[in-house]
Amino acid sequence: MSADIEKIRRSYDIQAKLYDLREIYLGRRARAVRKLEIKPGAVVMDLACGTGLNLPHLVKAVGEKGLVIGVDYSEGMLAVAHRRVEKGGWKNVRLIHEDALQMNVPYPVDAVLCAYAVCVFPEWEAVLHRAVTWIRPGGRLVVLDVRYPEGLLSVVNPFVALFGKYLSHADYSHEAWKAMKEDLKGVEVEFFACRTKYLCWGVK
Ligand SMILES: C[S@@+](CC[C@H](N)C(=O)[O-])C[C@H]1O[C@@H](n2cnc3c(N)ncnc32)[C@H](O)[C@@H]1O
Repeated sequence: MSADIEKIRRSYDIQAKLYDLREIYLGRRARAVRKLEIKPGAVVMDLACGTGLNLPHLVKAVGEKGLVIGVDYSEGMLAVAHRRVEKGGWKNVRLIHEDALQMNVPYPVDAVLCAYAVCVFPEWEAVLHRAVTWIRPGGRLVVLDVRYPEGLLSVVNPFVALFGKYLSHADYSHEAWKAMKEDLKGVEVEFFACRTKYLCWGVK
C-alpha cells in the first residue's frame, strides 16, 4: 500500500466513530439499492462499505437467503459496521478487511454497490474496472457519489475542494459513469441535490 493510500486509511480509522454524522448530507441509499435490481437470495457486494450505512437497505433487498459482503480497508470503519450488524442481528452479512485494489473475489456476485467512495479512491478507474470483473453477466454496478457544484454554485468549489482534501481525502472530479461506459451496457446517470451528487448504474 502506498504512503498516500495508507494515510487515507488511517484518517478513516480516526474519524470512524463520528462518520455517521455525515449522513445528514449524504443519503439516497434506498434508491441506490433499488438500482441494483437484486432479488431475494442474491449475493451483493458493498464496496468500501465504511460503517455500513448501506447495510439496512441491502440486507432487506437480499433477504434471509441472500448474502451481503461488505469490504473496506479501514479497521476503524469496519468496527462500526460490525456493531451495526450485531445490533441488527443480521446473519447474512460478511465484513471483509481488504484493499479494493488487491482483493480477489472467488465467485461472481450478482451486483456491486459503491457509495461515496469513488471520490476517495486515488485509482478510481482501476477500482471500477476491477469491480466489473467480480459481477456475473447481467448483474449491475451502481455508484452513488458527490461531485463539484456547477454554474453559479461553483463559487464554493475551492471550499469543497479543501473539505474534500483534508476531511474526506476525496476528489469530487471523479465521474464514475464515464469509466463505467467502457465495461458496461446501458449506463445511466441521474443528478440530484443541485447536481452536487450523482447516482449511476450499468449492466454487465
Ligand atoms: C467516504 S467513506 C464511504 C463509506 C460508505 N460506503 C458510505 O457510503 O458511507 C469511503 C470509504 O472508502 C474506504 N476505502 C477507501 N479506499 C479503499 C480501498 N482501496 N479499499 C477498501 N476500502 C477503501 C474508506 O476506508 C472509507 O470507509
